[in-house]
This record gives sequence, structure tokens and C-alpha cells, in this order.
Amino acid sequence: MAIQRIGVVGGGLMGAGIAQCAAEAGFKVLVRETDEALLAKGMARIHGRWDRAVAKGKIPKEQPAVWAQNLQGTLTLQALADCDLVVEAIPERLDLKLQLFAELDRVLGPEAILCTNTSSLSIASLCPVLGPQRQARLAGLHFFNPVPAMPLVEIVRTLATDGDTLASLRAFVQRLGKTAILAPDAPGFVVNRLLIPYLLDAMRCAEQRLATVEDLDIGMKLGCGHPMGPLHLSDFIGLDTMQSVAEVLFDAFGEARFKAPPLLRQLVVAGRLGRKTGSGFYRWEGEERLEALPL
Ligand SMILES: NC(=O)c1ccc[n+]([C@@H]2O[C@H](COP(=O)([O-])OP(=O)(O)OC[C@H]3O[C@@H](n4cnc5c(N)ncnc54)[C@H](O)[C@@H]3O)[C@@H](O)[C@H]2O)c1
Repeated sequence: MAIQRIGVVGGGLMGAGIAQCAAEAGFKVLVRETDEALLAKGMARIHGRWDRAVAKGKIPKEQPAVWAQNLQGTLTLQALADCDLVVEAIPERLDLKLQLFAELDRVLGPEAILCTNTSSLSIASLCPVLGPQRQARLAGLHFFNPVPAMPLVEIVRTLATDGDTLASLRAFVQRLGKTAILAPDAPGFVVNRLLIPYLLDAMRCAEQRLATVEDLDIGMKLGCGHPMGPLHLSDFIGLDTMQSVAEVLFDAFGEARFKAPPLLRQLVVAGRLGRKTGSGFYRWEGEERLEALPL
């Protein structure tokens, strides 16, 4: 099935990025938010990025108006009835997602593909509110933050996802100019299953004073060619997010390498959540990382 019309539910950090990339790739995109102010905020996020790209000379000044023709907002789910693919990017709460998916199942045409951008919930846990035909058209479509800059998408299949759905999603991701990998419906999928224990290990090294925070980051950056060190990256992700992802993985696998170290818990309790609160392993001013803070 060729995907043409895309619905994005949730115009927050991830939803706005997904909608932007799809509009740029020439898809007709409809973003659903819950009220006018949030919808305007999501749209402003997209237009802001386009305006900055024009200002930096990365795209011609006429380009945003062309892309904007592909992008519309709505407050109703009914407006998504004609979409071939709907990507959900609402907050990470199973109760909210179940309610939304039950409604979407009623609204969408029988062939429409339904995807979630969840980072940590089981994709199959959404099946109970869907009819059997939709269960075959359900998959995870896990984008990375910031969506316009990150070239990977994990396509997550359940035991019920059919081959046509996977092929259509692969083609969709390719048209976005991104690369897809196929991941199992298991906590952390592929990337976080490998990345999170590495980041937690770096925190254990800091905790044991193996090296300073700066030297741990410099070591992995210059020694392994990573774009940023593990403690810098953890601050970037958010230490509260790191803790909750670690808890999900530890619950699922029970392996010590997924366990949140005491240092992480202490930083979270102290309100040092990383970039978003201005302090974590480092002090931050907006996007700018400053000196490492005492541990
Ligand atoms: N933030 C990340 O780095 C990241 C990375 C990968 C995946 N994810 C996943 O993406 C999803 C969204 O995360 P986010 O960071 O964009 O969250 P966010 O809080 O920035 O955005 C969520 C948006 O959904 C809206 N919303 C809530 N209920 C809605 C509904 N019923 N209909 C329409 N809109 C609704 C909210 O108003 C909000 O604007 C989560 O499942 C998260 O786990 C996040």
C-alpha cells in the first residue's frame, strides 16, 4: 500500500518533528492536538526551524511556503479518517494511548496503518483495543530526538504485524530520507537496549571516581569517535527519563547492567535533571554545556 496522507497525533517535541519531516518529504500531513494553543505551539516549532534554516542559507526562502502547503492542524480525530498512516506521539502513558487507539480504530479506514512512537511501552499492549484487522496494521515507528536531525527509525513489529504493513513503513521511512531497522517488540528495542547500559556504566564509573566527569566524556568522545560523551548525552536526554527507562529495562530483564545507579537517583532527587533544569552532571545555559558540577 502506498502511503500518501499522514496523521500525526500529538504536536509536541516528537510529533512536530515527525510532521515536519513528512511535510518536507511531500506527504500531506495533518497534526492533531488537544487545544488551539498547543496546536499553535507545535506549528510554531516547525515554522521556527524552517525560518532558521532560511536565515542560515540552508534552504531557499520560498521553500517553507511550499512545505507549509502539505501541513495542516486539527483538533478532531475525525479529521484523520482519510489518512493512510497515523503516527501517535502523545505522552508516554498506556492509559492515554489505549483510549486514543480505541478511538482511532473506529475512525480510520480498514487499511490504515497505525503506529506508535513509544520509547518504552510494549507495542502489543495496544492490541486489545483494536480489531483483528487493525492489529495486523499496528507497528512501532520509533523516531529519535531531534527528529529532523536523526537519520534512524526503528520499525517495531509485533507477532500480529503483517508483511505489507512492514513493507509500507520501510518505504515511508525511506521517503523521509531516513534509514529503518527492524526491531523486536521488547523493551528498549535495539538502540536503547544497547545504549542505556553503556550510559549507566559511565555513571557507575563517575560514582567510583574512576575518572572525572569531563575525562570520562572526553575518553569516549576522542577514543571512540562518539559525537558526545555518555554523561553529556545523559544530561541531554534528561536524568529523570534515564531513570525511568532504566527501571523499565531492569523490570523486564532483571540484569544488573540495567539497574539505575545510586548516583543517578541522587541527582534526580536533587532536581539535577540535566539540560532541561540547567544542571545535571554539568551546568547548562540553554543549549550550552558549561563546567562539570561537583558529585
Ligand atoms: N522525547 C524524546 O526524546 C522521545 C524520543 C523517542 C520517542 N519518544 C516518545 O514519543 C512520545 C511523545 O513524546 P514527546 O517527547 O513528543 O512528548 P511531548 O510531551 O513533547 O508531546 C506530547 C504532545 O501530545 C499532546 N497530546 C496529549 N494527548 C493527546 C491526544 N489525545 N491527542 C492529540 N495530542 C495529544 C500533548 O498536548 C503534547 O503536546 C512518547 O511516547 C515518548 O515516549 C520521545
